[in-house]
Amino acid sequence: MSILVTGATGFIGSHFCVEALAQGLDLVLVDNFENSSEKVLDKIELLTGVKPDFHQVDLRDTEKLESLFKDYSFESVVHFAGYKAVGESSADPLMYYRNNIVGSLNLLEMMKRYEVNNLVFSSSATVYSDPVFNPYTEEHRKLPINPYGNTKSMFEDIMQDYAAANPHFSAVPLRYFNPIGAHPSGEMGEDPKGIPNNLMPFITKVAVGQLKELQVFGDDYDTVDGTGVRDYIHVMDLAEGHIRAIAFAENNTGYTPINLGAGKGYSVLEVIKAFEQQNNTSVPYKVVARRAGDLAQYWADATRAKDLLDWETQLTIEDMVKDSWGWQKKYPNGFNDC
Ligand SMILES: NC(=O)c1ccc[n+]([C@@H]2O[C@H](COP(=O)([O-])OP(=O)(O)OC[C@H]3O[C@@H](n4cnc5c(N)ncnc54)[C@H](O)[C@@H]3O)[C@@H](O)[C@H]2O)c1
Repeated sequence: MSILVTGATGFIGSHFCVEALAQGLDLVLVDNFENSSEKVLDKIELLTGVKPDFHQVDLRDTEKLESLFKDYSFESVVHFAGYKAVGESSADPLMYYRNNIVGSLNLLEMMKRYEVNNLVFSSSATVYSDPVFNPYTEEHRKLPINPYGNTKSMFEDIMQDYAAANPHFSAVPLRYFNPIGAHPSGEMGEDPKGIPNNLMPFITKVAVGQLKELQVFGDDYDTVDGTGVRDYIHVMDLAEGHIRAIAFAENNTGYTPINLGAGKGYSVLEVIKAFEQQNNTSVPYKVVARRAGDLAQYWADATRAKDLLDWETQLTIEDMVKDSWGWQKKYPNGFNDC
């Protein structure tokens, strides 16, 4: 029995595939390449020695999706596919609901039709919104403040309702905090199109000389140094968290949301400093006004992941900044250079 992986050639999906194939899991990979490159497949093969079983399928195309479920006998699904840009989701919410909700519903309906009962889903800390208490536990109220966060929260609710109706079903939404880093070989990493929205790819683009300076959005928050504090997690730790979550889903039923984070926050200035020191390079930056919707600080309570998955992060902020830079330095234009 194999595991279906949607969004398999994206940033997190590709690192998961490398780790899971290396551990001998039997994967069937799916992506529509809307936000990723076909070259990722060569990298997965290079890093694992396994030629990935890949199918170009868009989750909104139910016919193609169904033919996949007819051809294979899946035991579990790991669902990474979706859009992820908060700003874009506010500008075009319907596009986000169609892809992240309709696409995910199509997947869940196929799982129901073909009796596939284990679903691990890429959720996000954005489902929580403004902290009532910090760190966030999974019991923290869900109250997203943008359409992207709504899609994650809504699909979690859909999974929960379906798990309540189907006693064999296991729904495990993993609420990621801030994934950064890259494969330690430097052969694979995050490859955003245009100007990055997130801190780490912005830093690496500045360090490699493609952008003039980093914009730091606000230094007057009530935090250690006034800049925003986030819980950063290495993408390889995140990959391992998924492998544990699949095993958990296969041995349990019901709805079990789980935070995947380090349980520790770093400010923007601390991340810049770690990057500069670790990589012996400089990152010019300018402080600009706060960005609408940004929170001052939050991080994960990762106790449930430790208790249920026997998982906790192994890699440090130094590993994260080193590996992010290793990939960017080797391939300044991402997969276009590969
Ligand atoms: N990167 C983060 O900071 C972060 C944080 C929290 C949650 N997440 C979630 O994790 C998941 C993976 O994130 P990522 O950073 O790897 O994003 P990504 O954009 O790199 O990967 C997503 C992949 O899904 C594919 N895709 C999108 N819509 C599709 C569709 N309809 N059919 C088939 N393939 C489709 C894209 O081509 C892409 O390869 C996403 O669901 C995202 O919302 C990401």
